[in-house]
Amino acid sequence: MLKVGVLVSGGGTNLQAILDAIDNGKITNAQVSLVVSNNPGAYALERAKKHEIEAVCISPKQFENREEFHKALLAKLQESGVELVVLAGFLVAIPPMIVEAFPNRIINIHPSLIPSFCGVGYYGLHVHEKALARGVRVTGATVHFDTGTDTGPIILQKAVKIRQDDTPEVLQRRVMEKAEWKILPKAIDLIANGKVKVVDGRVEIEEYDVEE
Ligand code: GRF
Repeated sequence: MLKVGVLVSGGGTNLQAILDAIDNGKITNAQVSLVVSNNPGAYALERAKKHEIEAVCISPKQFENREEFHKALLAKLQESGVELVVLAGFLVAIPPMIVEAFPNRIINIHPSLIPSFCGVGYYGLHVHEKALARGVRVTGATVHFDTGTDTGPIILQKAVKIRQDDTPEVLQRRVMEKAEWKILPKAIDLIANGKVKVVDGRVEIEEYDVEE
């Protein structure tokens, strides 16, 4: 049983999609053993508590400096025996100290088709605002191993069509429903069942199924 730690900052709909997928058997061989938020008001913490999962806030405000915050976050993940770290709307850049402690064991969901609309400044609604401003016809979501901000080998992607009357909010919701809530649980299931390998900086998936 893979022990998964989920890091969140906001509403936690991606966390909910993971919990639902575990409950209905779409994710096997994994359990969420810890949820951490940098934001004490994150509704994601309530979702975890309702599922009787340990839910803690570790905020940078509780520490003298960034390094102490990073150390506390790392210590919590290690103490809890987390084997896979899932960044599900976590608005904190993961420092090298944590990346090195979990090699190919940290995954992130990003609401665009990487390498488009990603990197510093591309988070939350901004990603969708920029996609609409550029006039792309297709966007989507990406699950990737995290080695910094939206870097690291790509595991799964799913495309979502853009409509001419989309607003950033409408598009954000569609990308979540049609892409994020599907590919994040799917990636966790593949990892938990030993089907994901990183070879020469790229991901190979055993029995990879290209959905139409
Ligand atoms: C999602 O759009 C995710 O891709 C992004 O932050 C948002 C989190 O939403 N990184 P939620 O907290 O899972 O509802």
